[in-house]
Amino acid sequence: MKFYFLRHSHRAVITVSTLLSFTILTYNLSAVAQLIFPRQNINVFMTQPARIAALKRGIQVMKQRPASDPTSWTFQSRVHGTVLSGANWNKCQHQHWWFLAWHRAYLYYMERMLQKAANEPRLRIPYWNYTATNSRSLPAPFLDPTSPLYVPGRNLVSATDQVTPSAVNTSNAMSRIAFIGSDAQLGFGGGRENTPIQFPFTDKSGSLEVVPHNAIHDQVGGLMQNSSTAATDPIFWLHHSNIDRLWVNWLASDQGRANPTDPTFLNATFSLYNENGVLVTRHVSDFIGNTTALGYYYDDSPPPAQPAIASAATQTQQIAEDAEAAASKMTFTTIGETTAAESKPILIQPVSFPVTINMQLPAAQALARRTPSLGHEPCRYLLVLDDIDFAKPPANIYQIYLNQPESTIDTSIDTPNYIGVLTFFEPYPMNKNHHAAKRSNTFDITSNIQSLQQDPKFDPSKLIVTLVPIGIMKQGKPTLPDNPVAIKIKTFKIVVGEGCPKSSNQPAGKT
Ligand code: C2O
Repeated sequence: MKFYFLRHSHRAVITVSTLLSFTILTYNLSAVAQLIFPRQNINVFMTQPARIAALKRGIQVMKQRPASDPTSWTFQSRVHGTVLSGANWNKCQHQHWWFLAWHRAYLYYMERMLQKAANEPRLRIPYWNYTATNSRSLPAPFLDPTSPLYVPGRNLVSATDQVTPSAVNTSNAMSRIAFIGSDAQLGFGGGRENTPIQFPFTDKSGSLEVVPHNAIHDQVGGLMQNSSTAATDPIFWLHHSNIDRLWVNWLASDQGRANPTDPTFLNATFSLYNENGVLVTRHVSDFIGNTTALGYYYDDSPPPAQPAIASAATQTQQIAEDAEAAASKMTFTTIGETTAAESKPILIQPVSFPVTINMQLPAAQALARRTPSLGHEPCRYLLVLDDIDFAKPPANIYQIYLNQPESTIDTSIDTPNYIGVLTFFEPYPMNKNHHAAKRSNTFDITSNIQSLQQDPKFDPSKLIVTLVPIGIMKQGKPTLPDNPVAIKIKTFKIVVGEGCPKSSNQPAGKT
């Protein structure tokens, strides 16, 4: 068995099999601070009794500590979110570019708290890879009501309850090249904010935050569905380990993918409690390089050979900056819009919204294929759902289809008509950090339009957007939401980017 040891920036691989028997190590943080171990897939992790026992023990010990102790389970979950007020509580960063970095830092300190509580310095938080078709139910140890890994009230309560394919589809997020994206919020990691904020006035979520992140929170349900309680469910940590792994994999798939280099991003600070209960303040730049500097890597990818920031290929960085700059310069024109009068509440049945297009849609051949060719955002179509209103955030997601008004919960997402999902993850009831901002969400529908235009019956003067409320999968079948909440969406807009050929108000095909 191998582990990695970092010293003076040289990495030496040492094989020390005797040291690693899981029972003989006594915890001494300073001595083991540089140990590097893999975060494992929970399916592998749970086959190793000593590991799952260490995870349970760490959680159990933290749960027994008084809520006033920063290293207690209760206190630590309030650092993420709570309806109560406390100086260092409600610090989670959502809907902007610090989402990934803050949650990485939060997991890093939690991992060390668990190691110390379990007296097991090799413990790393496993990840739940729900995208794999054999991993779509909660891992078995989390379903056992006698386990410290269990909490009541979830939607997923048995081995035959699963998350939907739409909730775990990472292809949209992983195909994004720019981390920041444009004002249309279509980057991988989220839009710019000037200073860290729990929830900003305008939702600037990156693609990964929406799907799978928010969608999984919604579908696990119960405590996980509300940002004020989410971190009290032990599955939270495995979910975020997976989100962090997807970030690592996104960067590794390269083609210009890179973290922001803007000093505003890098120099921001987060204050979190360490494993000794001491509040520490660290820069974002401490958390966005090679994860081995933080003591872990993911078992599906080897530890990267060099620190990513210090030696990031200048060229790669330049390409990413170009893509980002191009995206943020894009201007968009509204070419179709419904009015409030046409809006109707969406509860449990699918509801369709026709959107009349008042400008000619460019023909399919005029649309450049959306390639990762950098710095060039070709003509893009966006669907904007504006002014989304609800009395309380729904605990389910909504699958969205284009020109398929007959869609139901049984309609496949493997169709050019499928757009994506609308998700909800925020504090409820609202806390002081949550602003009653108008909720707006944007979806890139370029590839949908490209495919649908191939059909001679395609009517470019009217698009139909259909929202399908959907619950979890039971026994392999999609279900209706359990506790539906009525939402209203005031405006449906179709917007085109400046790369799109423009013409007069005559719908194509009628000229
Ligand atoms: Cu800050 Cu998945 O949440």
